[in-house]
Amino acid sequence: MPIFTKKDALKAHLQHYRDSGKAIGFVPTMGALHQGHLALVKQSVAQNGATVVSIFVNPTQFNNPDDLLKYPRTLDADVQKIATVHPDVVVFAPEVDEMYDGNTQSKHYDFDGLETKMEGAHRPGHFDGVGTIVKKLFDIVQPTNAYFGEKDFQQLQIVKKLVEKESLGINIVGCPISREESGLAMSSRNERLTEKERKDAAIIYRILQEAREHFKTESIAEVREHALEAFETHPEFKPEYFEIAEESTLETATLKENRKYRAFIAVFLGNVRLIDNISLN
Ligand code: PAJ
Repeated sequence: MPIFTKKDALKAHLQHYRDSGKAIGFVPTMGALHQGHLALVKQSVAQNGATVVSIFVNPTQFNNPDDLLKYPRTLDADVQKIATVHPDVVVFAPEVDEMYDGNTQSKHYDFDGLETKMEGAHRPGHFDGVGTIVKKLFDIVQPTNAYFGEKDFQQLQIVKKLVEKESLGINIVGCPISREESGLAMSSRNERLTEKERKDAAIIYRILQEAREHFKTESIAEVREHALEAFETHPEFKPEYFEIAEESTLETATLKENRKYRAFIAVFLGNVRLIDNISLN
């Protein structure tokens, strides 16, 4: 399997695919891959002549230094997992300096307000970091299609906005959330939960499913209140936010006709912060 750590070598390799008219699919990740990531890789392989997976733990998007420090790094296992999807998938695993040239700073982005809500409000600078690294990666890979999970729905909308604002001409494909059998959304951070916590964490999806039921008959405020109340009976969970937002603007204020809504949650279980969301209509 071709593995690159240098951007110039990767670019030269990808030029062969481009010259032969192949569509290039791209799946950016931070590694510690699970089935959720691999589902994105499978979709890219099915829809493109070549697929690139990047594995890069991006320091500028971590607002919590401890989270960055504890982020799992499992490159060898990741490469093996990718090879099970298809042996020709190209892996790009650069060092920090290769991406940031000794200046590990993010650019400031205006995503028309998408960046100030939910994750943006609770993780200062996070989406500047995401915007910065995704733009750098897009410039190197220049993909036809790029695959992002709905697990990070706000990030998906922000990447679409980045492509629109910077006229990058890349097709952004949103992919459904992969869940464990219990309903818990797959995440690299799940590895940091104890066995009991991991079992208990199924409650998060159950509360989201209840919210979808309540949304049929209740106001936004009532659905929110019910969801937060449900967590009160599980004091080991500390919800950070629960919001109902319109999909394209992520505005939380009022319901409008013919718009799609989602419920979004961020919750601490012990010191692990988990996020999830569900489509409501
Ligand atoms: P990471 O958390 O590794 O996720 C990489 C991609 O996998 C993202 O698009 C994410 O939404 C998707 N993903 C993760 N868990 C998923 C699940 N359970 N179901 C479906 N998709 C899932 O997101 C990032 O990395 C970074 O912010 C990145 C975009 C790579 C920029 O650094």
